[in-house]
Amino acid sequence: MNIEKLTLKEKASLLSGRGNWFFRGLPEHGLQEIIVADGPHGLRKKVEPGAQSEYKDSIPATCFPTACAIASSWDRALIGTVGDAIAKEASAGQVSIVLGPGANIKRSPLCGRNFEYFSEDPFLSGELAAAMIKSIQTHKIGCSLKHFAVNNQEKLRMTIDAVVDERTLHEIYLAGFENAVKQSKPWTVMCAYNRVNGKYASENHYLLTRKLRDEWGFDGIVISDWGACNNRVEGLKAGLEIEMPYSGKHNPESVVQAVESGQLPEAILDTAVERIYDVMSRTAPDPSVQIDMEEHHLIAREAAADSIVLLKNESGVLPLKPGDRIAVIGEFAVNPRYQGAGSSRINPTSIDNFLEQIRADFPGAPFAAGFSLDRNNKNEKHLAAEAATLADAADKIIILAGLPDDYESEGFDRADMKLPAEQDRLIQMLCDTGKPVIVCLSNGSPVEMPWNNDASAVVECYLGGQAGAGALADIVTGRVNPSGKLAESFPVKLEDNPSFKWFPGGPLRVEYREGIYVGYRYYDTAGVPVLYPFGHGLSYTGFEYSGIKLTRNGWEIEVSLNVKNTGSRRGKEVVQLYITPPEDDGKNKGSLHRPVKELKGFVKTEIAAGEEAAVSIKLGFRSFACYDPQQKLWVAEPGIYTIHAGASSADIRQSAEIRIESGKKNNTPLLSSEKAADESDYIKLRTNSEIIHVISDKSFEGELGRKPPVNLLPETYGRTTTLSDFQQTFTGKILMRIAMRAAREQSKGIENSAGMFEAMAKEMPLRAMPQFNPEMVNIEMVDALLLTGNGHFLQGLFALLRAVKKLKTDLKEEL
Ligand code: BGC
Repeated sequence: MNIEKLTLKEKASLLSGRGNWFFRGLPEHGLQEIIVADGPHGLRKKVEPGAQSEYKDSIPATCFPTACAIASSWDRALIGTVGDAIAKEASAGQVSIVLGPGANIKRSPLCGRNFEYFSEDPFLSGELAAAMIKSIQTHKIGCSLKHFAVNNQEKLRMTIDAVVDERTLHEIYLAGFENAVKQSKPWTVMCAYNRVNGKYASENHYLLTRKLRDEWGFDGIVISDWGACNNRVEGLKAGLEIEMPYSGKHNPESVVQAVESGQLPEAILDTAVERIYDVMSRTAPDPSVQIDMEEHHLIAREAAADSIVLLKNESGVLPLKPGDRIAVIGEFAVNPRYQGAGSSRINPTSIDNFLEQIRADFPGAPFAAGFSLDRNNKNEKHLAAEAATLADAADKIIILAGLPDDYESEGFDRADMKLPAEQDRLIQMLCDTGKPVIVCLSNGSPVEMPWNNDASAVVECYLGGQAGAGALADIVTGRVNPSGKLAESFPVKLEDNPSFKWFPGGPLRVEYREGIYVGYRYYDTAGVPVLYPFGHGLSYTGFEYSGIKLTRNGWEIEVSLNVKNTGSRRGKEVVQLYITPPEDDGKNKGSLHRPVKELKGFVKTEIAAGEEAAVSIKLGFRSFACYDPQQKLWVAEPGIYTIHAGASSADIRQSAEIRIESGKKNNTPLLSSEKAADESDYIKLRTNSEIIHVISDKSFEGELGRKPPVNLLPETYGRTTTLSDFQQTFTGKILMRIAMRAAREQSKGIENSAGMFEAMAKEMPLRAMPQFNPEMVNIEMVDALLLTGNGHFLQGLFALLRAVKKLKTDLKEEL
């Protein structure tokens, strides 16, 4: 394609998708359109090319374990194998770009989309995202690393402004993206819906250009999340190449006009077009690829089995022994919950169910549903009584519990961290029988476990994909030795979570007051007990660590140690490296406050019974560095650091010390402490764990380097007003009624999706209406409606008539 031969209009046309699932081509100039599809744990490709229907009718594809599950494998190679399989399915379906993986941080257990993300830790998230991207892209299928950045909640996701200090931004919310971009060079990055420090991610030059391209060397294209583009011209200037989906003629036209009026240098448009052409030319799906779907199902099963986390196993109740009289209880045993709701929902090629799977080993194992997934179940007593009868005759009770589909989803956050009360009551009742109870959980994010002390075993399956139930059977029977480790902490109760007081914020902003103290960084630093710590997971065998040794060559530091399998079964162990910064003994006064330890390396290794393996993990400058916002640099402070090798963040087995002389990029002591001096709440955290919930304005201001911005909605309605706020007006009320009807319509045929579509519609900014319905609404109509809502009713009405006429004409003209 010769860019010089393109008209302005042709160039601008490439900046928007075609429909929902295509990057537009210019066939007359030799550029063919390409297909994109979700992501991230399997393929969701529409049956008919160009079909607009959002969540229905995708071709059957293997549903691999969701990110929350596979993250617990801590296994880069395994994720690579899954990535290969996804890429092959994409290739066969002529899909050029897979929309995933997601590297957002699990700030709160309540985020409705946690099931699509890997971890609360940026190092782990980045490593796993990189593994997936590398494997998919070797097949000439691109990835879209998403949602860049600071998209950690579903509440008001299209408008919320994440107020986060620069240090936290770098160390927690960007670090995973940075790592994945540098290591695996994704061909596309998807920008998030939300604002970050006042600017929409889709027009955030700091994120899209300064960080992503200039500092991290990104050489692909940025695409918008679906409907995330706020102002097309501003977006383009900031580094947003493609707006998805197609939202009508307004945006491409605004780019043409901006160039013509001299507001936008044409060179910016040309660069974007060159990048788009370059990325589209890299992709080469091969429809002749042969796929064995049964083999992919087996890959999904192995991946799920290696991801299951054995949280608790008292008196060796697991694995089951042949001859054990088991009772299987729980609706999920016949009606599994194996994936999450929303854009990642896959139409699976087949679905395992636990009852069938376990009956292959325990023929005729009795089953009772025990509870209902219906929130208004009137039958609780009866179901519980059936379960009790079954339990009576059993030696071991296996209960499959978890979060029903409509409890966690894209589009809204969870209301609390609890299982449905009916399930908690049932589990407690079964535990009270005195028989060993094995609780197996299906959920996308942590739950409180009030019965934890009374259960004999707890198995965290997360959402394990279509073969998850077979994998669970492999684990409980001992065919597979569990090796999953938590990629997130399980707090005892929601209130213990450091973001509890600040999540999800609103109406305009959400403050990240807990700063860098996310997940175990907080629990460990403040000494808050957790139910299950980050990195925790049991095995049916045991591992002994010995002989930690450091070899150093400048900033290349190799940590080696021996791990011995001391039990009688083959098993896999995840060795985790944490780093503790130099002690604050007064001499370090003036240094930045830091968490007591942070994950900086890990490796998963398989060891035969009785054997010993040598493992080695590399560390570098960044393993020791923190981000100094004043100097805008990563700095490793001089001092003695401790390197810990552990089986979890709370189970450190070996430690060694290392002296770091000075930071690579800077030798001067850190300065930013002037304001973070001793009285800062962040320093008090070490002695007062509660302080996290009352971080003062002054302390937060110290981190932010400015006053926290006001959190009030503007007085007049604008394009970014949500439908739910606009509902205060007469026009808004009518619009809301129409939107609710449309949401109900959309949810038809998709189980338990009404809540999601309703939440999405309510929180949609008005400017997104044309983005999702370009055939029915244009931006001129939105502006007209806004006029009516802002007290200019007649003027608005006339504008509306003009807008309708324009839409009709526009629809006749092809872009
Ligand atoms: C989601 C993205 C997804 C896109 C396309 C959006 O609503 O946030 O993750 O890739 O839709 O389905």
